[in-house]
Amino acid sequence: MKATLAFDVYGTLIDTHGVIVELEAELGERGMEFSQRWRDKQLEYAFRRGLMGAYVDFGQCTREALEFTDRALRTELSERHKDRLMATYARLPAFPDVPEALAELRRRGHTCVAFSNGTREAVKALLEQAGIVDCFDDIVSVDEIKRFKPDPAVYAHLRTRLEVDASKTWLVSSNPFDAIGARHAGLHAAWVRRSAEAPFDPWGGEPDCTVSDLVELSERLG
Ligand code: LAC
Repeated sequence: MKATLAFDVYGTLIDTHGVIVELEAELGERGMEFSQRWRDKQLEYAFRRGLMGAYVDFGQCTREALEFTDRALRTELSERHKDRLMATYARLPAFPDVPEALAELRRRGHTCVAFSNGTREAVKALLEQAGIVDCFDDIVSVDEIKRFKPDPAVYAHLRTRLEVDASKTWLVSSNPFDAIGARHAGLHAAWVRRSAEAPFDPWGGEPDCTVSDLVELSERLG
Protein backbone atom coordinates (compact mmCIF):
# COMPACT_ATOMS: atom_id res chain seq x y z
CA MET A 1 0.00 0.00 0.00
CA LYS A 2 1.32 3.47 -0.88
CA ALA A 3 1.59 5.48 2.30
CA THR A 4 2.16 9.07 3.33
CA LEU A 5 5.19 9.14 5.61
CA ALA A 6 5.64 12.14 7.92
CA PHE A 7 9.18 12.32 9.26
CA ASP A 8 10.06 14.02 12.51
CA VAL A 9 13.17 16.17 12.03
CA TYR A 10 15.47 16.53 15.07
CA GLY A 11 17.01 13.21 16.07
CA THR A 12 15.13 11.31 13.33
CA LEU A 13 16.43 12.89 10.09
CA ILE A 14 19.01 15.26 11.54
CA ASP A 15 21.86 14.11 13.77
CA THR A 16 22.21 16.41 16.78
CA HIS A 17 25.54 14.86 17.80
CA GLY A 18 27.42 17.90 16.40
CA VAL A 19 26.10 19.95 19.31
CA ILE A 20 27.51 17.41 21.79
CA VAL A 21 30.94 17.61 20.15
CA GLU A 22 30.92 21.39 20.47
CA LEU A 23 29.72 21.26 24.08
CA GLU A 24 32.37 18.69 25.01
CA ALA A 25 35.09 20.92 23.54
CA GLU A 26 33.97 23.65 25.98
CA LEU A 27 32.72 21.68 28.99
CA GLY A 28 34.56 18.35 28.82
CA GLU A 29 32.65 15.45 30.36
CA ARG A 30 29.68 17.67 31.20
CA GLY A 31 29.00 18.28 27.50
CA MET A 32 26.75 15.23 27.20
CA GLU A 33 24.80 16.10 30.36
CA PHE A 34 24.37 19.67 29.09
CA SER A 35 23.13 18.47 25.70
CA GLN A 36 20.60 16.07 27.27
CA ARG A 37 19.28 18.69 29.71
CA TRP A 38 19.01 21.24 26.89
CA ARG A 39 17.01 18.87 24.67
CA ASP A 40 14.74 17.76 27.55
CA LYS A 41 14.10 21.39 28.54
CA GLN A 42 13.43 22.42 24.94
CA LEU A 43 10.69 19.78 24.71
CA GLU A 44 9.36 20.59 28.19
CA TYR A 45 9.02 24.26 27.17
CA ALA A 46 7.10 23.25 24.04
CA PHE A 47 4.81 20.94 26.09
CA ARG A 48 4.21 23.64 28.73
CA ARG A 49 3.59 26.38 26.20
CA GLY A 50 1.19 24.06 24.42
CA LEU A 51 -0.75 23.43 27.64
CA MET A 52 -0.78 27.12 28.54
CA GLY A 53 -1.89 28.20 25.08
CA ALA A 54 1.21 30.40 24.98
CA TYR A 55 2.73 29.38 21.66
CA VAL A 56 6.06 30.78 20.48
CA ASP A 57 8.35 29.74 17.64
CA PHE A 58 10.13 26.46 18.51
CA GLY A 59 13.47 28.27 18.00
CA GLN A 60 12.56 30.45 20.98
CA CYS A 61 11.92 27.32 23.10
CA THR A 62 15.37 26.10 22.04
CA ARG A 63 17.08 29.38 22.93
CA GLU A 64 15.28 29.72 26.28
CA ALA A 65 16.09 26.09 27.12
CA LEU A 66 19.76 26.83 26.38
CA GLU A 67 19.66 29.79 28.79
CA PHE A 68 17.97 27.68 31.47
CA THR A 69 20.48 24.84 31.12
CA ASP A 70 23.37 27.27 31.38
CA ARG A 71 21.87 28.63 34.62
CA ALA A 72 20.98 25.20 36.05
CA LEU A 73 24.43 23.72 35.44
CA ARG A 74 26.23 26.99 36.27
CA THR A 75 28.33 26.67 33.13
CA GLU A 76 28.45 30.43 32.49
CA LEU A 77 28.66 30.20 28.72
CA SER A 78 29.31 33.53 27.03
CA GLU A 79 26.63 35.13 24.81
CA ARG A 80 28.92 34.50 21.84
CA HIS A 81 29.16 30.83 22.69
CA LYS A 82 25.39 30.52 23.08
CA ASP A 83 24.94 32.20 19.69
CA ARG A 84 27.45 29.76 18.22
CA LEU A 85 25.58 26.77 19.68
CA MET A 86 22.33 28.04 18.18
CA ALA A 87 24.08 28.45 14.82
CA THR A 88 25.41 24.87 15.06
CA TYR A 89 21.88 23.68 15.79
CA ALA A 90 20.79 25.26 12.51
CA ARG A 91 23.35 23.45 10.37
CA LEU A 92 23.52 19.88 11.62
CA PRO A 93 23.99 16.98 9.18
CA ALA A 94 21.47 14.30 8.21
CA PHE A 95 22.03 10.76 9.48
CA PRO A 96 23.88 8.80 6.76
CA ASP A 97 20.98 6.40 6.06
CA VAL A 98 18.51 9.24 5.28
CA PRO A 99 19.15 10.22 1.60
CA GLU A 100 19.27 6.66 0.24
CA ALA A 101 16.28 5.43 2.26
CA LEU A 102 14.11 8.40 1.30
CA ALA A 103 15.00 8.04 -2.38
CA GLU A 104 14.02 4.36 -2.20
CA LEU A 105 10.74 5.08 -0.39
CA ARG A 106 9.79 7.66 -3.01
CA ARG A 107 10.79 5.30 -5.86
CA ARG A 108 8.28 2.88 -4.39
CA GLY A 109 5.57 5.52 -4.59
CA HIS A 110 5.35 6.63 -0.97
CA THR A 111 4.87 10.33 -0.24
CA CYS A 112 7.51 11.71 2.13
CA VAL A 113 7.04 14.90 4.12
CA ALA A 114 9.01 16.54 6.93
CA PHE A 115 6.77 17.19 9.94
CA SER A 116 8.20 19.23 12.77
CA ASN A 117 7.74 21.47 15.76
CA GLY A 118 10.18 23.78 13.93
CA THR A 119 8.82 26.53 11.68
CA ARG A 120 8.67 25.87 7.95
CA GLU A 121 11.50 28.37 7.32
CA ALA A 122 13.77 26.84 9.99
CA VAL A 123 13.10 23.28 8.79
CA LYS A 124 13.55 24.20 5.12
CA ALA A 125 16.89 25.88 5.86
CA LEU A 126 18.03 22.94 8.00
CA LEU A 127 17.13 20.34 5.35
CA GLU A 128 18.69 22.49 2.60
CA GLN A 129 22.04 22.79 4.31
CA ALA A 130 21.96 19.03 5.11
CA GLY A 131 21.42 18.42 1.36
CA ILE A 132 18.14 16.52 1.75
CA VAL A 133 15.41 19.09 1.09
CA ASP A 134 14.73 17.59 -2.37
CA CYS A 135 13.93 14.23 -0.74
CA PHE A 136 10.60 15.63 0.47
CA ASP A 137 7.28 16.26 -1.22
CA ASP A 138 6.38 18.88 1.38
CA ILE A 139 7.17 20.35 4.80
CA VAL A 140 4.40 20.55 7.39
CA SER A 141 5.07 22.66 10.48
CA VAL A 142 3.05 22.84 13.68
CA ASP A 143 3.56 26.61 13.35
CA GLU A 144 0.70 26.59 10.81
CA ILE A 145 -1.73 26.07 13.71
CA LYS A 146 0.43 27.38 16.58
CA ARG A 147 0.27 24.19 18.65
CA PHE A 148 3.01 21.72 19.54
CA LYS A 149 3.39 17.95 19.31
CA PRO A 150 1.85 15.81 20.79
CA ASP A 151 -1.39 17.86 20.72
CA PRO A 152 -3.86 15.73 18.70
CA ALA A 153 -4.62 18.89 16.68
CA VAL A 154 -1.18 18.82 15.03
CA TYR A 155 -1.62 15.25 13.76
CA ALA A 156 -5.14 16.14 12.54
CA HIS A 157 -3.62 19.19 10.81
CA LEU A 158 -1.07 16.97 9.09
CA ARG A 159 -3.86 14.89 7.57
CA THR A 160 -5.95 17.91 6.58
CA ARG A 161 -2.98 19.62 4.94
CA LEU A 162 -2.01 16.52 2.99
CA GLU A 163 -5.60 15.39 2.38
CA VAL A 164 -4.86 11.83 3.46
CA ASP A 165 -6.67 9.20 5.47
CA ALA A 166 -5.37 8.30 8.94
CA SER A 167 -5.18 4.66 7.82
CA LYS A 168 -2.58 5.59 5.17
CA THR A 169 -0.55 8.03 7.24
CA TRP A 170 2.58 7.10 9.17
CA LEU A 171 4.49 9.23 11.62
CA VAL A 172 8.14 8.25 11.62
CA SER A 173 10.02 9.45 14.68
CA SER A 174 12.84 8.63 17.07
CA ASN A 175 10.87 10.43 19.81
CA PRO A 176 8.57 8.04 21.70
CA PHE A 177 6.30 10.94 22.76
CA ASP A 178 5.73 11.75 19.08
CA ALA A 179 4.99 8.13 18.13
CA ILE A 180 2.55 7.78 21.06
CA GLY A 181 0.91 11.11 20.14
CA ALA A 182 0.43 10.03 16.53
CA ARG A 183 -1.10 6.69 17.52
CA HIS A 184 -3.37 8.45 20.00
CA ALA A 185 -4.58 10.60 17.09
CA GLY A 186 -5.30 7.50 14.97
CA LEU A 187 -2.18 7.48 12.75
CA HIS A 188 0.29 4.66 12.31
CA ALA A 189 3.65 5.19 13.98
CA ALA A 190 7.12 3.86 13.28
CA TRP A 191 9.65 4.34 16.05
CA VAL A 192 13.22 4.81 14.83
CA ARG A 193 15.32 3.44 17.65
CA ARG A 194 18.56 5.12 16.72
CA SER A 195 20.25 4.03 19.94
CA ALA A 196 19.94 0.39 21.03
CA GLU A 197 19.67 1.58 24.66
CA ALA A 198 16.75 3.95 24.01
CA PRO A 199 13.66 2.92 26.03
CA PHE A 200 10.05 3.33 24.88
CA ASP A 201 7.53 4.82 27.31
CA PRO A 202 5.72 2.05 29.23
CA TRP A 203 2.24 3.33 28.42
CA GLY A 204 0.91 0.01 27.28
CA GLY A 205 0.79 0.62 23.52
CA GLU A 206 3.66 -0.25 21.23
CA PRO A 207 4.50 1.52 17.96
CA ASP A 208 3.22 -0.25 14.82
CA CYS A 209 6.81 -0.89 13.88
CA THR A 210 10.25 -0.37 15.42
CA VAL A 211 13.31 0.00 13.19
CA SER A 212 16.94 0.89 13.82
CA ASP A 213 17.17 3.26 10.83
CA LEU A 214 15.31 4.43 7.74
CA VAL A 215 16.79 1.77 5.45
CA GLU A 216 15.16 -0.85 7.66
CA LEU A 217 11.93 1.18 7.49
CA SER A 218 11.98 1.14 3.67
CA GLU A 219 12.56 -2.63 3.71
CA ARG A 220 9.71 -3.17 6.17
CA LEU A 221 7.20 -0.95 4.39
CA GLY A 222 8.03 -2.35 0.95
C1 LAC B 1 10.56 17.92 15.83
C2 LAC B 1 11.15 17.69 17.19
C3 LAC B 1 10.14 17.27 18.20
O1 LAC B 1 11.30 17.99 14.83
O2 LAC B 1 12.13 16.70 17.12
O3 LAC B 1 9.33 18.05 15.74
